[in-house]
Amino acid sequence: MIEQEKQIALKEEEKRIEGNISKINHRIAVFSGKGGVGKTTVSVNLAFCFQMEGFSTGILDADITGPNVAKVLGINDELIILNKSIIPFQKDNIKMISIAGLIKPGQPVIWRGPMRSKVINQFLADVDWGELDYLIADLPPGTGDEILTIAQKMKPDYALIVTTPQEVSVIDAERAITMAKKLEIPFIGVIENMSGFICPFCKNKIDLFASGGGKKLAEDYDVQFLGSIPIDINARIFSDKGKSIILEKPDCEVTKSFKSIADLIEEHYSESIIEN
Ligand SMILES: Nc1ncnc2c1ncn2[C@@H]1O[C@H](COP(=O)(O)OP(=O)(O)OP(=O)(O)O)[C@@H](O)[C@H]1O
Ligand SMILES: [Mg+2]
Repeated sequence: MIEQEKQIALKEEEKRIEGNISKINHRIAVFSGKGGVGKTTVSVNLAFCFQMEGFSTGILDADITGPNVAKVLGINDELIILNKSIIPFQKDNIKMISIAGLIKPGQPVIWRGPMRSKVINQFLADVDWGELDYLIADLPPGTGDEILTIAQKMKPDYALIVTTPQEVSVIDAERAITMAKKLEIPFIGVIENMSGFICPFCKNKIDLFASGGGKKLAEDYDVQFLGSIPIDINARIFSDKGKSIILEKPDCEVTKSFKSIADLIEEHYSESIIEN
């Protein structure tokens, strides 16, 4: 493609992204510094909370090299493309897009940053998201190209930083908060995941990964602390089965924590509407 054609194609993509984004009320980017702290778990379960409250919700799996959202939602389908438009997957009325729908299980995605960004652009430009109340982007760990692309193109209005309480995760989460501030994402909230484990036998709380790290981090950086989610073996078991703990165990502590966090996020948005 000659340079001029490339520029035209990019401009057209830009326009399609703007058109799509303008129909999505709230856009949340879920990220962290460290891997494995629960970003995907938080993205999916918050989506269920919003959906159950009657909000139309979508998830964009922006983790191109480690796409897990399809697995956690129990989706094994292949992507359908109709008239150049990508039809998002649907699970319990939640729309979702992931590269997992294009690759075979076990097949690695060995792409450098620009290629990964290109896929994210396409997810924003060409997926038929329709009108949405919430779009949640589940990001890979770290502060790499994916978060830059999401910040520039999806224009999130909320950065949700997930950390476990232990120091090694909190240190990385600090970088994530600083990045969110540099990217001028208007609002930042911190969630502490894997915050204590209630022993099913003796019922005592064991602070496997210490406790309080997320709250202190939020205070130190003057951002909102949204709450803590305990470790519950069911969260892992249901996630591996492609089911949500929110639907399966509506009264457990993990579900209550997610609902309270979702309420705080909804409150934030309704307050900002009143302020404007
Ligand atoms: N509160 C919890 N209780 C029990 N298990 C949990 C909890 N949160 C997450 N897990 C489990 O921990 C593992 C890692 O979680 P998850 O995949 O959500 O992390 P992640 O931050 O998205 O990881 P990555 O950085 O690789 O994208 C998963 O097996 C998940 O089911
Ligand atoms: Mg993940």
